[in-house]
Amino acid sequence: MRGTKVPPRDTVLATTTDVQAGQLLFAQIGCATCHVHSIVTAPSRTVLNGGMWVVPDALGNKLIHPYSDFLLHDVGTGDGIVQGGPVDTINKLRTTPLWGLRTKTRFMHDLKSLSLADAINRHRDEARGVVDNFQEDLTPAQQHQVITFLNSLQGSGRQSSAKPVVGWWSLVVGKIPRGIGPSNPTAPVARM
Ligand code: HEC
Repeated sequence: MRGTKVPPRDTVLATTTDVQAGQLLFAQIGCATCHVHSIVTAPSRTVLNGGMWVVPDALGNKLIHPYSDFLLHDVGTGDGIVQGGPVDTINKLRTTPLWGLRTKTRFMHDLKSLSLADAINRHRDEARGVVDNFQEDLTPAQQHQVITFLNSLQGSGRQSSAKPVVGWWSLVVGKIPRGIGPSNPTAPVARM
């Protein structure tokens, strides 16, 4: 296996004014309530999964930028499959981290979205208000800026010198920095 790191961000695109405006809009209209920018992994030596896994020093207490809260939400795309929890998880899905989008050409858990715009527009229910903000409050130019921001998370296919903090295969979710986390009480996944 060549590598399991998060694909690097497109560092050239990331500095453009469109991407910076798009990132701001992404936060302002509420996307970032679920697609959380920054999370601190659990402290090293934390025992998880009933003792099956202990967080190694290399992965503990790291600031990462997954654009996910790793919580379950009903955004109207569920399949009626209980997500390893109580029955009310039946139509919930875990917020997809938006890092590493460049490895994908299809989006959402069912891979039915062929564009980022379609993926956004399919959000309903818990995300209804936020998607209304996207569709009704943003001009087409601003919507384009949000999508250009998402594209900057995909990388450009070139190698970048940016070093990801932690391999996403072994991500351990710890506490979310104060003030930017969601209020959703559903327990975060211990490991992905
Ligand atoms: C209430 C929480 C919530 C909000 C608010 C939200 N999302 Fe999501 N998002 C999700 C969940 C859950 C999924 C996974 C849905 C699925 O796979 O069917 C998802 C999936 C996605 C995907 C697909 C990623 C992939 O790799 O397949 C994109 C892109 C995305 N969201 C962008 C956005 C944008 C842009 C906004 C703001 C307009 C937004 N989301 C608001 C929870 C949310």
